[in-house]
Amino acid sequence: MKPQAPNLSIPASPSGLELNWKTSVLCSQGIIEAYTSYLPVTSRTPIVTLSEGNTPLIPMPHLSSLIGRGVKVMIKYDGLNPTGSFKDRGMTMAISKAKEEGASAVICASTGNTSAAAAAYATRAGIKAFVIIPQSKVALGKLAQALLYGGEVIGIDGNFDQALTIVRELGERYPITVVNSVNPYRLEGQKTAAFEIVDLMGDAPDYLFIPVGNGGNISAYWMGFCEYHQEGRCKRLPKMMGFQAAGSAPLVVGKPVLDPETLATAIRIGNPANWEKATAVKDASGGEFNAVTDQEILAAYRILANKEGIFCEPASAASVAGLLKYSDKVANEATVVCVLTGNGLKDPDSAIAFSANEFKKGIAPSLDAVAHVMGF
Ligand code: F0G
Repeated sequence: MKPQAPNLSIPASPSGLELNWKTSVLCSQGIIEAYTSYLPVTSRTPIVTLSEGNTPLIPMPHLSSLIGRGVKVMIKYDGLNPTGSFKDRGMTMAISKAKEEGASAVICASTGNTSAAAAAYATRAGIKAFVIIPQSKVALGKLAQALLYGGEVIGIDGNFDQALTIVRELGERYPITVVNSVNPYRLEGQKTAAFEIVDLMGDAPDYLFIPVGNGGNISAYWMGFCEYHQEGRCKRLPKMMGFQAAGSAPLVVGKPVLDPETLATAIRIGNPANWEKATAVKDASGGEFNAVTDQEILAAYRILANKEGIFCEPASAASVAGLLKYSDKVANEATVVCVLTGNGLKDPDSAIAFSANEFKKGIAPSLDAVAHVMGF
């Protein structure tokens, strides 16, 4: 006898709300559903979600052994979000609130990841997304995403800081909602990554190592840890260790960088919009801002991939580069979480250009030739 097909019909909705069939079908929750009581949403907020969040906290045995002294290193792999970066946590909030407020269009400046997330969540909400990007400095995968999700992609012959200045002014002049991290809902959503870490570990780590560009994410994590701490969900607060690329390190040099440069294009930012917030976080947590060179970023990028099996984008590897460079700042037996903000597939050009591995090609299509190359 044939097995019975499962009943896939969508039950009639008791309340008549759109999408409420979800209540009778098991689906993954997004961060708004998982942490509703911590977020500025109400029953009237239409939740625009792609089931973001709940990303893995992964132990890093090789990195831990490199540091030694009983230090336990983990990564928060936020590159496993639906569009491949931590931006999805903030964007589910920003777009849900924009939709609630009746916006018909949103806009962002972006080094790439925000543009991908904005385009995806706006599409999901039936809202138009304009994304302004530095046209020659956005990784291929991110551009591909923004275009395919249906964003209106506008490239400027300038850098991210210039794009953000234009976007903020457009937001003041025209009926369009800015969804960069100057939008407070973005940080509210992003703080849920800290909740997830504490929910798993049972406490906050001793240190959080994190790449810093505009300074939004480090501020969001701190907000999350502090909210949980106030409720007694964690006993300690981590030292927040922020890392910028050496050619784009305004928070380290203490003044804006007019012509930021780094191959970690996601954090190629010379004048962070959340400068004061991020500095206050560093000070309040007893943390530090430091710079890592492109060579150090690439070394960490390669170690993560070929020793730990983790493929992140170069900007994300800045957190691990920072840990390797400044490991003497970490106490014996401490727990360290390094945030990996974006997926390696975002930037295939960098992966191929900077892999230490060799692509053996041009081999004759014969068993003997292939076996010979294999070393048999
Ligand atoms: N890592 C990645 C992969 C990023 O894309 C960004 C920022 C950061 C780190 C830095 O985070 O700005 O909150 O300090 N990307 C923005 C964008 C600027 O447009 O996608 P931050």
